[in-house]
Amino acid sequence: MNVKNIKTICCIGAGYVGGPTMAVIADNCPHINVNVVDVNEERIQLWNCKDLSKLPIFEPGLSDIVGRVRGRNLFFSTDIESSIKNADMVFISVNTPTKIKGIGAGKASDISWVEECTRQVAKYSVGETIVVEKSTIPVKTAEAVKSILSSSDSEKGSSFSVLSNPEFLAEGTAINDLQNPDRILIGGEHSSSIEALKNIYLNWVNQDKIISTNLWSSELSKLTANAFLAQRISSINSISALCEVTGANIDEVKRAIGLDKRIGDKFLNAGPGFGGSCFKKDILNLTYLCEHFGLPVVSNYWEHVISMNDWQNYRIYKMVIDKLFGNVSKKKIVILGFSFKANTNDTRESPAISICKNLLNEGAFLSIHDPQVNRIQVTSDLGDIGEENNSNWSFSNDLEDIFDNADAIVVLTEWDIYKKIDWNSVNLKLRKPAWLFDTRKIINPEKINNCDLNFWQVGLGNNIL
Ligand code: UDX
Ligand code: UDX
Repeated sequence: MNVKNIKTICCIGAGYVGGPTMAVIADNCPHINVNVVDVNEERIQLWNCKDLSKLPIFEPGLSDIVGRVRGRNLFFSTDIESSIKNADMVFISVNTPTKIKGIGAGKASDISWVEECTRQVAKYSVGETIVVEKSTIPVKTAEAVKSILSSSDSEKGSSFSVLSNPEFLAEGTAINDLQNPDRILIGGEHSSSIEALKNIYLNWVNQDKIISTNLWSSELSKLTANAFLAQRISSINSISALCEVTGANIDEVKRAIGLDKRIGDKFLNAGPGFGGSCFKKDILNLTYLCEHFGLPVVSNYWEHVISMNDWQNYRIYKMVIDKLFGNVSKKKIVILGFSFKANTNDTRESPAISICKNLLNEGAFLSIHDPQVNRIQVTSDLGDIGEENNSNWSFSNDLEDIFDNADAIVVLTEWDIYKKIDWNSVNLKLRKPAWLFDTRKIINPEKINNCDLNFWQVGLGNNIL
């Protein structure tokens, strides 16, 4: 078996996955040159920005690594052609959103960017190239990738081998997840290519954590992992609703079940529903595949994970309205957190978006805060519901001056700074009767003991008192 020694990598897609993943590879493999390319010039400029606080992605620990390796063996550019030409291995890390039109619209993943990149690899690559699917894609995508690549082999004597190497990093903890992964999964058909990729990871990952499978198991494992994780959140959220009406406490239930090793204590936090670019998209993709392969019962089973998530989000919005006497028109509501989880500036599928839109639709004025998201992103996410000149909402990265005369506060993201708020001083600024809704259960009730505030927490049975 002749295992290729990888000296140069090209990664197409400088997004939330491609950027951090390549930074960690470059950091751990000083002997490999890593070129990250993207069609988005503005994004590449930000990756190359001298001021590391301006990187296009906020991820704890990322700027330190980029500061260390950029210009050494990590490079960002828009020169896709020469990066592919020079590469021994090409990672495809472009986005694979849900299709918005045509067959499978609203469910199937749109793999047109993956296909487009594959064509570029077929066109520009020289010699033997290993193509690695990093993007999350439908099972059997490698079939299409192989077919496109093989149609170009004969013309210029280039040859290809396709691997599936899904990324399991979670945003907000990406660097730690990449540095200390639970496992590395490599699916492929040629053991020499699998070994070549494995050798890269062996620079920092223990070999028992690197597993290889066939291509289809690897592609399906990524969808399945996300489906199981999302299912857990829908399960705990469904129980949070039951806690609220029975007098049980979700934290106590969580602890009691989490101590069972078969269940485990991770990923059991009730909240406003899962967001992020992956869970919904990947479950929809899974349900589409099940339908396609004639398994409608399996498809319906997974679809319920999404319905439960939508319902949790809706019931929180409805509860806010109910508590405020069924009317929020002209009332000021402070929204704490707009990103889909803490420690990221990503708002894709954030539960805050639909909750804010619904509240705006009821005529509320929203004072939105997030420490990392920017106003441009919020404007784009709220779309047409935001009035001209944002007269029905305001945005700030700062907690000062956002609470004045507010009727309610809704905590939607579990940022650490919200755990440290001095509620006694905030309380003085509110218009009474005022409400504090904690949808992430991060506020210690003792901290509001001395406030004349109405308090609601997700999954807390005392809410019925
Ligand atoms: C990743 C995965 O690749 C996706 O399959 C998974 O489901 C979610 O995570 P992510 O890195 O989060 O995607 O996406 P994004 O931040 O949108 O980055 C993708 C990048 O690819 C963008 O910067 C985009 O400009 C770039 N791109 C897209 C190209 O360079 N070429 C293309 O043809 C298409
Ligand atoms: C997820 C997977 O965790 C990761 O392995 C995969 O590669 C990409 O998709 P990500 O979406 O970045 O990662 O974040 P994750 O931590 O999984 O959170 C997803 C959503 O679930 C967030 O909205 C989060 O707030 C929510 N969540 C998570 C809960 O509501 N409760 C929990 O206990 C955990």
